[in-house]
Amino acid sequence: MPDPDPLAIWPASAVALPDGDLALGGVPLTELADHFGTPAYVLDEDEVRQRCRAYLRAFPGADVYYAAKAFLCRAMAHWVAEEGLGLDVCSAGELELAVTTGFPPDRIVLHGNAKSPADLQAALRLGVGRIVIDSTSEITRLAAAVPAGSRQKVLVRVVPGIAAGGHAKIRTGTDDQKFGLSLADGSAQHAIARVLGQPRLELVGLHCHLGSQITAAKPYLSAVRRLVGLLARIREQHGITLPELDLGGGHGVAYRPGEPALDLPALAAKVRAELARGCAAAGLPVPRLAVEPGRAIAGPAGVAVYRVLSVKRTGAHTFVAVDGGMSDNPRPALYGVRYAPRLVGRRPAAAPERVTVVGRHCEAGDILASDVPLPGDIRPGDLLAVPVAGAYHLSMASGYNLVGRPPVVAVTSGHARLLVRRESLADIQERDIGL
Ligand SMILES: Cc1ncc(COP(=O)(O)O)c(C=O)c1O
Repeated sequence: MPDPDPLAIWPASAVALPDGDLALGGVPLTELADHFGTPAYVLDEDEVRQRCRAYLRAFPGADVYYAAKAFLCRAMAHWVAEEGLGLDVCSAGELELAVTTGFPPDRIVLHGNAKSPADLQAALRLGVGRIVIDSTSEITRLAAAVPAGSRQKVLVRVVPGIAAGGHAKIRTGTDDQKFGLSLADGSAQHAIARVLGQPRLELVGLHCHLGSQITAAKPYLSAVRRLVGLLARIREQHGITLPELDLGGGHGVAYRPGEPALDLPALAAKVRAELARGCAAAGLPVPRLAVEPGRAIAGPAGVAVYRVLSVKRTGAHTFVAVDGGMSDNPRPALYGVRYAPRLVGRRPAAAPERVTVVGRHCEAGDILASDVPLPGDIRPGDLLAVPVAGAYHLSMASGYNLVGRPPVVAVTSGHARLLVRRESLADIQERDIGL
């Protein structure tokens, strides 16, 4: 079995240069690091756009909502809007950023297991297209907030009882987690009846999100079967045929060469076939499908670039410490995920050895990549690039040790431009007002 192409998990524009550097969107990473400093996150605009288009091609006639929680900034909202996708948001913050960037509110769906009054107020004020009901208490709260004479389109989030997802902390299809309303214990059916009894709420469909980092179509097909069954029961009990079915996101990507990723065209074909088959059997019209990819759009389009600060050999271990860490990428600490960092900017003069790439934070758990091959001559000052860093890194970044969050730099057609500037000490101190 030949070794997998090391650039297979990088954006399509990635080119290894003769001097050991690597270019993204036509921009050498060493130039980018010299200009914007490190740590820095590079976002390949064309990769984001291509991935948006791949979803629209795979799911014609469906709604594709980019899940903003994966990564959101004004440019990302702008690109996604330009490509014709919708947006899945889960806070007033994400919503306001998107709408003030010109994202059409009717193409936005608001999620959240515990939506604050501010979230609901902002959603109604800005006119979001859909709100996904996640609990029965939310039904009365929302209905009471909808202005008289108007109706808010809603979906009910159903827990279909399907275990799927790359880690226990990102599995949301079974009853033992905080999201959604259970199909098994009747909570979903009860909530549906409650919503139908609210004149200011218009129930347009069902939603489910099984989890994240799912690399097989099978769980989605089971979800389609169970939700079509529920659509049929709703028609029987309430005489209503709901027009929409939102299957959420969770589409897995490869973080290291050779790892599996969800095959998008295959998923789409199988889901549509299962939906058509199930609806035909139940005598239901086929509902309009929706999906909510986050990671699969942003993840592979982002690359984190770090500078090596120290290399420490102790006993059997070699620790390569860089100028970022868990404050910009909490995923290894949270989920134990593994990455494939790469030396860029020079040609190595030594054979690879297994090392652990760690962050600069005062935390033993601040590990970015354990037991990975890097050149034995790795040294302070070197540049390390970590691919597949576009999702759930900066969106989950923290202020730990007050190091400041890295900038985001877009690359396309040989040009680099700053999208989000580095968080400065002044930014951090601006909030720190009391003595
Ligand atoms: C409701 C919902 N939709 C979509 C997503 C996006 O998931 P992913 O980034 O794995 O595609 C999430 C992630 O948590 C979610 O909670």
